[in-house]
Amino acid sequence: MFLLDYRVYGALFGAILFALFLGLFSNALVVAQPANPPGFDLPSGAEPAKKAAPVAAVPLPNLLAKADADKGKALTKVCATCHSFDKGAPAKVGPNLYGVVERAKASEAGFGYSDALKAKGGKWTFEDLDAFITSPKTFVAGTKMGFGGEPDAGKRADIIVYLRSLSDAPVPLPAAK
Ligand code: HEC
Repeated sequence: MFLLDYRVYGALFGAILFALFLGLFSNALVVAQPANPPGFDLPSGAEPAKKAAPVAAVPLPNLLAKADADKGKALTKVCATCHSFDKGAPAKVGPNLYGVVERAKASEAGFGYSDALKAKGGKWTFEDLDAFITSPKTFVAGTKMGFGGEPDAGKRADIIVYLRSLSDAPVPLPAAK
C-alpha cells in the first residue's frame, strides 16, 4: 500500500525541479536590477559654483541695456551687510563700492585686500564685475569675499547698473549687440 506509482515520483520530482527553476529564475530577475540607478551624481565640493553659473544666452551689454538700477539697489541689500555704497563712507567687512565700475581692482586705500584680489590686476570692467558677482571664488580663487554668488544673469545686470550709478560721472554702458 506504500508502493507508489513511478508516475507519482515523476510528478513530485518534476514539481521540485519546477520550484528550483522558479527560485533561480526570480534570483536572476533580482540580480538583473542595477545596484545603482545610472547617472547618479557623486557629491563634489568643487563643482557647485561652476554649475550655478548658467550659460549666458543674452550678451551682457544687452542685459545691462534693459537692467533696472532700482531693482539692483534692492538686490544689494545682501551686499550691504559687508559693503557701504555712499561716497566717502568707511569700509565695512568689504571695501566701499562707490565708483567701483572702472576702478582699479583692490585699490581702496587702507583696506586689507586678499593677496588673491591684489594679484588679479586690471580695472573692474562690467564683464569682470559680472564674473565676480556670479561666483567670487571662481573668478578670484582665494578672495576673502564671503558671498556665494548670484546665479541669475538678469539680477546681476540690475546690480551692476546700480553700482554704475554710484559715481560722480557714471561710465557709459557698453553698446548692446
Ligand atoms: C560677507 C561679506 C560680503 C558680502 C555679502 C559681499 N561682499 Fe563684496 N567683498 C567682501 C570682501 C571682504 C571683499 C574684499 C575681497 C578680497 O580682498 O579678496 C569684497 C570685494 C568686493 C569687490 C571688489 C572691490 C575692490 O575694491 O576691488 C566688489 C566689486 C564687491 N565686493 C561687490 C560685491 C557685491 C556686488 C555684493 C553683493 C551681490 C557683495 N560684494 C557681497 C565682502 C562681501
